[in-house]
Amino acid sequence: MDTKIIKFDTMGDKRGALIAIEQNIQIPFDIKRVYYIFNTKKNVIRGKHAHQNLAQVLVCLNGSCRILVNDGFTKDEYLLDQPDKGLYLGNNIWREMYNFSDNCILMVLASELYNSDDYIRDYEQFLHIVAQNNDIYIKH
Ligand code: TYD
Repeated sequence: MDTKIIKFDTMGDKRGALIAIEQNIQIPFDIKRVYYIFNTKKNVIRGKHAHQNLAQVLVCLNGSCRILVNDGFTKDEYLLDQPDKGLYLGNNIWREMYNFSDNCILMVLASELYNSDDYIRDYEQFLHIVAQNNDIYIKH
């Protein structure tokens, strides 16, 4: 599965902590967009989509949330609860975000500008695209 945890170095001293994130250093792509999700209401599930051409790194800056990832073959669940922990998601990963704590701020670093056409929002269509991609991979 094209997902991985990225640990960021914390530069701490007696004043507190600082984490610096740079494109193509800690993050394996050019960062074209940053957005963050906060004030998420109780029992809300966000996401429920995949992207065809978009890499992202999710960082929970405050509080915690859980991320389900699914590449059409395998499912995994990650707990994001530390600002030094990033979750990288490649193309064609179905993701769902849930269990947001009240104070959760989930920052997302993205490799592309916002493009609503890049979203796969239908789960059956996602499975179909994964199957197609897999056939192409096996044939060539
Ligand atoms: P949405 O994709 O529904 O969020 P999530 O997948 O996390 O549940 O996005 C919510 C709204 O924000 C929707 O109207 C699209 C808009 N939006 C942007 O304009 N730019 C962005 O970069 C993102 C991620 C969303």
